[in-house]
Amino acid sequence: MNRRLLLSQMSGLAVGALLPPELTHAAGQLAVGAALGVDWGLAFADQDGDLAPAPMKRMSGACPAGLAGSLYRNGPGKFRRPGGSAAHWFDGDGLMRAFRIRDGEASLAARFVDTHKRQTDAAANAVVTPGFGTPGRPGGRAESADDANAANISVMPVAGELWALWEGGSPTVMNAGDLSTRGVKTLRPDLAHMPFLAHPKAEPEGDIWNLGVTGDKALVWRVGRDGALVSAETIDLPCASYIHDFSASERWLVVILQPLIQDKITLPFIDRFTWKPTEPTRVLVIDKADLGSRRIYELPAFFAFHFGPAWAEPDGTIRFDACVSADPAFATRGAREVLKGDWTPTPPPVLALITLAPDGQGRLERTPVNAEFPRNDPAMSGWPRAMTIHATGDGATPLFHGVATYNWSTHGSDGFDFGPAHLVEEAVFAPRTGGAGELNGWLLASSVNLVARATELHVFEAARLADGPLCTWRADVALPIGLHGAFVPA
Ligand SMILES: [Fe+2]
Repeated sequence: MNRRLLLSQMSGLAVGALLPPELTHAAGQLAVGAALGVDWGLAFADQDGDLAPAPMKRMSGACPAGLAGSLYRNGPGKFRRPGGSAAHWFDGDGLMRAFRIRDGEASLAARFVDTHKRQTDAAANAVVTPGFGTPGRPGGRAESADDANAANISVMPVAGELWALWEGGSPTVMNAGDLSTRGVKTLRPDLAHMPFLAHPKAEPEGDIWNLGVTGDKALVWRVGRDGALVSAETIDLPCASYIHDFSASERWLVVILQPLIQDKITLPFIDRFTWKPTEPTRVLVIDKADLGSRRIYELPAFFAFHFGPAWAEPDGTIRFDACVSADPAFATRGAREVLKGDWTPTPPPVLALITLAPDGQGRLERTPVNAEFPRNDPAMSGWPRAMTIHATGDGATPLFHGVATYNWSTHGSDGFDFGPAHLVEEAVFAPRTGGAGELNGWLLASSVNLVARATELHVFEAARLADGPLCTWRADVALPIGLHGAFVPA
């Protein structure tokens, strides 16, 4: 559907019913947004070059005392070239943003990851490199996975560096100061160019665990906080699922194998997979101390990009949160449509709790809360926690326009909806120095203000989102909307 046509129809949609009660005022705001003629295509426009560090203008409020550091955010930022363009949102060149908060004010810089793919496509004046949903063109080279590595999904701060992460190839190391690219990270010579997912799971004071997936094999990476490889071991998976993320507790690795199954070799990558909703979603639980020790649970079929870290309860029950959809329509269709300015209104994912009981029974419980980009207080990762941070929206337009938390103990939501003038990015938690308890600190939520045509950064007290932002800064440019971020305190 053409987005102008969609906008003209939006005022009649009963979107409020899909939102948590705290957020229902968005329905009225959507009608206002349609009247304003906001154009969400701005969030998927090209950024044509790097952005030198520049102060952001404080629009309201005051930066809370004690908040200082850098919010790094990665995401695709350049899609179109004269000789041919990316066909899928996930195939834009990785653009690393740095929001820096210092002395109560904020600045914004952005720099493209200088990947082989970007160099090749720039030289060809066309997107010739094959990708997640882009087939590639003559001149594209993919002799190793890192030839196609867009380094565009997430960012992991490691030992003073930034690792820009894709999922089919190596991390790409960047300078955390000036965002210059140092090159792909080879953790061990014989493992060069091996896949490394964009969602590593860091133990609060321990190692970083990750997977690299090829068909029905996974490489289990264990990396120290100094960035050095501790171990890498290959395991067999029960099936060749599409895996974007996984879960882990203090003791267990939890690999979710949804029935989006690779059954052919072709390009682009996502076309290798077939959705088989009559098959279960399998969950593989592996002991970190013995990767050969495993249990498999079965759940009804669902699709999910993202999972929160798991925790174990005293009786051995494992739980973790997920943002689940009925099918992979966004990955296969929606993320292609958005680059063309089209959008088929789609039910967003909902927040769910997955329970793996000691008796071998698995359970998936969906909440009514629309949710994507689940995050948590990183100090609690792998340990029992109550809170999930997430983005929320209604599916009438792409992506999300609210930030929220969900409390698994009370089943209560807290949130703030920016309304249709904004598309929000994943919110990231910034802890209060010396603070005790879960989510004691701030949420940093960036958005693309579609009316002001500018990128904004909003700070919330994490425990009181409904109060609205404590502080909002605005850049004088609108960067395309990004995917995942990380905060590094000053
Ligand atoms: Fe992701």
